[in-house]
Amino acid sequence: MKSACASQALRPPAFAYGGATSGSRATELHCEGVSLETLAARHGTPLYVYSAAMIRARVDAYRQAFHSIPNTLCYSVKANSTFGILRLLANAGAGFDVVSGGELERVLRVSRKAVSKVVFSGVGKTAAEMELALRSGILLFNLESASELNLLSATASRLKKRAAIAVRVNPDVSAKTHPYISTGLHRHKFGVPIPEARALYAQAAKQPYLSVAGVSVHIGSQITDVGSFQEAIARVVDFVRVLRKDGHDIRYIDAGGGLGISYGDNDEADADANANTDADNANVKESLIKSQLSPVYPRVPCGLSLSRVLNQSFPNANADDDNDDGAQVDFAKQIAAYAKAVLAPLRGMNLHLLLEPGRSIVGPAGVLLTRVLYRKTNYRKRFLIVDAAMNDLLRPSLYGAYHEIVPVRRTSRATGPTKLESTKSGSIESELTETEITDVVGPICETGDFFARDRKLPLVAEGDLLAILDVGAYGAVLSSNYNTRPRAAEVLVDGAKAKVIRRRETVEDQMRPEIQ
Ligand SMILES: Cc1ncc(COP(=O)(O)O)c(C=O)c1O
Repeated sequence: MKSACASQALRPPAFAYGGATSGSRATELHCEGVSLETLAARHGTPLYVYSAAMIRARVDAYRQAFHSIPNTLCYSVKANSTFGILRLLANAGAGFDVVSGGELERVLRVSRKAVSKVVFSGVGKTAAEMELALRSGILLFNLESASELNLLSATASRLKKRAAIAVRVNPDVSAKTHPYISTGLHRHKFGVPIPEARALYAQAAKQPYLSVAGVSVHIGSQITDVGSFQEAIARVVDFVRVLRKDGHDIRYIDAGGGLGISYGDNDEADADANANTDADNANVKESLIKSQLSPVYPRVPCGLSLSRVLNQSFPNANADDDNDDGAQVDFAKQIAAYAKAVLAPLRGMNLHLLLEPGRSIVGPAGVLLTRVLYRKTNYRKRFLIVDAAMNDLLRPSLYGAYHEIVPVRRTSRATGPTKLESTKSGSIESELTETEITDVVGPICETGDFFARDRKLPLVAEGDLLAILDVGAYGAVLSSNYNTRPRAAEVLVDGAKAKVIRRRETVEDQMRPEIQ
């Protein structure tokens, strides 16, 4: 496939156009060695398709970037919890970050061995969930309140099982991301303010079945400003010093997840979605003064996006787009910038680093295939009505999130060599391909049921197949049965092989739990 796709890689090494027969101007989107048209014909649409190679490559990139310090990658199960994905990650040596008893059950089913690398996060763990985690022998509980600490202590005493704990601190740092996925500010429900956390550690140390082991922090998701991570870790490191002086044996620092990915054209607009940034920064300053904690390390200036940081740090970051592995090289560079930010404050601290990435591992590794049901024009506005809907992929409706959409089969109108064939950009559109401005919407009875608005797309016909990109994280997991629509099937591609890892739901599946 490499030769056919060398200049047409969309999300290398996973998704690329290829398969053109000689003399034909049509190229088809593939996932690794498998044609997406073929998958859609075999399994129907809407269909989630994931690339195993890309997921493995991203785990490796994390491993390389953080090799200088003892660390454990605890993949955040919430991003994509399908067994096939979890099994792949367990086989790649990952541990897991879970936020419910259900997620822990999933991990237990794919790998009993991985449970010793499980951290349990979340603000509302129940006694039953704690009991399951204690009996399973997880690595660490990340506690978020005094009440939760008391309940864990009582549960652990009852079971006579020791629980290793960290307190998730709220560092009051702005993540400069969408407000719904920003978690590290004083007004958020997450974590414990650093000045109050000290007393919690003192309380934990007195409990016979609790063992103080670490400090944890997670400031949000889809974060593209690596300086926010550095600032948060620096505050936590300050706090670790205080805790060690108090006599606590702090061995772990859990840096959470949150590293953002590039969703395409609109990254800056996504970042701008957080209109509260200035107010947040003011609050950060005020609370720093109050808590008398200051960042020890100079941070990357506020507002520097990951791409801008990368361009400064790695001027040639995008120079090799014509290479099949180009985007993966870019990810290695992104990860290097992230690692630099996280590791700088940790130097000399003798801590074992826990990382909880979700989106940056699986996000770009998934596409959602959907067929155009109808073309429609209301007044002069054009719509493509597709067979996927907000119940299959909620992110555009929930966050106004941008996802690039491309036709799976592409045919150029040109007779000579296309601009695409001579470009190095890997861009999806040749200027020689006919385009239109259209909305891409689902069949659900909500105006909010859309995937794209006023988007310039290559002209496609009813029955054509589209791929919505970068849906590997927070895609299938957020799907629902709204409008009594069955959840989509999911397929994992590995080289030339494709395996259904979740069959399409039936209407009967949905009705089974109900009393008729
Ligand atoms: C505690 C915790 N850890 C890890 C993650 C994973 O974040 P991401 O998918 O952005 O890497 C989340 C998600 O918000 C989270 O709440």
